[in-house]
Amino acid sequence: MTGKLTVAGRKVLYTGAAGGLGTETTLAFLEAGATVVAVDNNPDKVAHLQEVCRQAGHERLVVRRYDLSDLAGLRAGLEATSAEVGGFDVVINNAAIYPSKPFEEFTIEEFQAVQRVNVDAGIVCVQVALPHMRQQSWGRIINIASVTLSGGWALLAPYVQSKAALVGLARAWAREFGPYGVTANAIAPGAFPTDAEKIHPDPEGYNRFILDRQAVKRRGHPRDIANALLFLAAEESGFITGQTLNVDGGWWMD
Ligand SMILES: NC(=O)c1ccc[n+]([C@@H]2O[C@H](COP(=O)([O-])OP(=O)(O)OC[C@H]3O[C@@H](n4cnc5c(N)ncnc54)[C@H](O)[C@@H]3O)[C@@H](O)[C@H]2O)c1
Repeated sequence: MTGKLTVAGRKVLYTGAAGGLGTETTLAFLEAGATVVAVDNNPDKVAHLQEVCRQAGHERLVVRRYDLSDLAGLRAGLEATSAEVGGFDVVINNAAIYPSKPFEEFTIEEFQAVQRVNVDAGIVCVQVALPHMRQQSWGRIINIASVTLSGGWALLAPYVQSKAALVGLARAWAREFGPYGVTANAIAPGAFPTDAEKIHPDPEGYNRFILDRQAVKRRGHPRDIANALLFLAAEESGFITGQTLNVDGGWWMD
C-alpha cells in the first residue's frame, strides 16, 4: 500500500460516534476528508464531540441525536438524512450498551433491549444505506465486535451475544453484498482505557491484568481503532471482506 488511505469525500454513518472510541475516530475521518454523520443520543457527549470538532476546525460533522432503540424513528430519521447528504458510503455500527450482572438475573426483555441497540439498529442502518451502495457499486460496512467474544468474561451475556451476532452479520453481508462491491467486516477492540474503565475498584490491578494478556506492552489508544477503521473504510481494503480484525495488542489470536 502506498500513500494515504482514500476516504476523502465519503459519507460515513457512524453510530455511537460521541463515545470513548467514537470521538477520536470521528476526528480521524474528518481529518481524512470524509463527512461523518454521527448518531448518538447522549447530549453531553454529543456537545463534547461537537466542541472537539469545532476546535479542530472541521465542518463536515453532521450530528443526529436519534435513539437507536427506537427502530422506526431511526429508520425515518436516517432516510431523511441520507437524502440530505446524498447517501451513506460507509456504515460503522459502533454504538453499544453493556449491562453487567449474572446471566440468571437478566430478564428476556433486558436481553432484547441490548440486541435492539447493539444489533437491530445496525441492521436498520445497513438497510437504509444499501440502496445507495448498490447503485454506486461501492460500500463499506464495519461492525464493532469485542474481545469479550473470546470467552474471557463473565456477567456480560447479552452484550457478548450481541457481538457474536455482529460478527455473524458481517459474514452474511459480505457474502450477499460482495457481488456489487460492498464489503462487510468486523473489528474486535481489546480493552481500551475509556470512561467505562474508570469505575474499576482497582485500576492498577486491572491495568496489569490487561498488559499481562497483550503481546504489545502498552495500553490501546482510540487512535488504534481509528486507524483500523480508516483502513477498512478505505478504497484500499476492497479485497478484504467477511473478516474480524482484532485490534487488541495481540491479546486474542485466532
Ligand atoms: N472501550 C473498550 O475498551 C471496548 C472494548 C471492546 C469493544 N468495545 C466496543 O467499541 C464500541 C465503542 O465503545 P466505547 O468504549 O466508545 O463505548 P461508549 O459507551 O463510550 O460509547 C458508546 C456510544 O453509544 C451511544 N449510545 C448508546 N446507546 C445509544 C442509543 N440507544 N442511541 C444512540 N446512541 C447510543 C452512547 O451515548 C455512547 O456515546 C462499542 O461497540 C463497544 O462494545 C469497546
